[in-house]
Amino acid sequence: MGTSRRTVLAAAAATGLAAASAGTAHATAGTAHPTGGRKPVKELFGKLADGTRVHRWSLENGGTRLKVLSYGGIVQSLEIPDRRGRYANVSLGFDNIEDYVASSPYFGALIGRYGNRIDKGKFTLDGKAYQVDVNDGENSLHGGAKGFDKRVWDVEAFTSGSDVGLVLHYTSVDGEMGYPGTLRTKVTYTLTRHGDWRIDYEATTDKATVVNLTSHVYWNLAGEGSGSVYDHELQLAASRYTPVDKGLIPTGELAPVAGTPFDFRRTKSVGEDIREAHQQLLYGQGFDHNWVLDKGITAKPEPIAKLRDPSSGRTLKIATSEPGVQFYSGNFLDGTLVGTGGHIYRQGDALCLETQHFPDSPNQPKFPSTTLRPGQTYRSTTVHSFGR
Ligand code: BGC
Repeated sequence: MGTSRRTVLAAAAATGLAAASAGTAHATAGTAHPTGGRKPVKELFGKLADGTRVHRWSLENGGTRLKVLSYGGIVQSLEIPDRRGRYANVSLGFDNIEDYVASSPYFGALIGRYGNRIDKGKFTLDGKAYQVDVNDGENSLHGGAKGFDKRVWDVEAFTSGSDVGLVLHYTSVDGEMGYPGTLRTKVTYTLTRHGDWRIDYEATTDKATVVNLTSHVYWNLAGEGSGSVYDHELQLAASRYTPVDKGLIPTGELAPVAGTPFDFRRTKSVGEDIREAHQQLLYGQGFDHNWVLDKGITAKPEPIAKLRDPSSGRTLKIATSEPGVQFYSGNFLDGTLVGTGGHIYRQGDALCLETQHFPDSPNQPKFPSTTLRPGQTYRSTTVHSFGR
């Protein structure tokens, strides 16, 4: 990426994102936060077919309420107040474990070992060819048919200073879904006293492998089940994106967003250009692309996205250490799922902003590398800050 820090800050300032510095961006307008941090509460959520118990943890801090499942590390509910203090669950999901197992399009889940697609599930590492699980046409998507979203994680709650949170562990054995190496994964969800939700990912391996972890929350800041997010206003600090072929595999090009529907450097609504007859929008049936963040890879999370729902006033700001973000406009929601609040989800009823390395990086030598070797630690951080 090679971008200097000065250029990063200049780019962020130009897009108006500079004020959204990680972890401090919470808008405190309006009433004081109703509650402080409390010790997370654990309850039984349901059982898998083999009898495995799935628990749900409830956390609250700085006005944000989070519910997390041991299955998939799923954010089952995330509630934040609107400008008048009224809470809504802004994350799509289900109210029962059976629907998560049978038909979830990754609602709220942790994604691994590899977020997004790998071309035909094939790659070569250190001269050795690997075939990973193919589950999306001829390609591999989000780690294969039984990725991290469908595994039961070990969960421990913590309180630390003014923070509350959960530490989630999952060990993926050598060869699982075709990936080499035993991968030990630790994900920490922290709710800060400002109500920010921070995710810290860590992983180590005992053989060279590839890793790209992310979180697949479907956001609707007006509340899940309330209708389309096309009125939400979005800003992304990215001057380029990675165009795809019809199987949604990157062509390898880093194309400028200037003059295309992909230009979110200045705030515009999600729906403004979504019906433009642009080949890339036909391929994705809307936005389903990786934006190349101007800041590049950073040691600390830096601001990259801002989302606002004008009707409720709720805002979400995202900061990340990652070089890319997949903006997916909920194109494949097709009216066949009934969500947490009892409403049907239809196309465009939510959007995802998945911080990540670029799709198909194992086959794209010019993309930042996703290789992890023994002795190295994979680290990635994303912070979600809410306001109103
Ligand atoms: C992908 C979409 C996919 C969705 C899951 C997104 O990250 O880019 O193509 O349909 O996840 O349902």
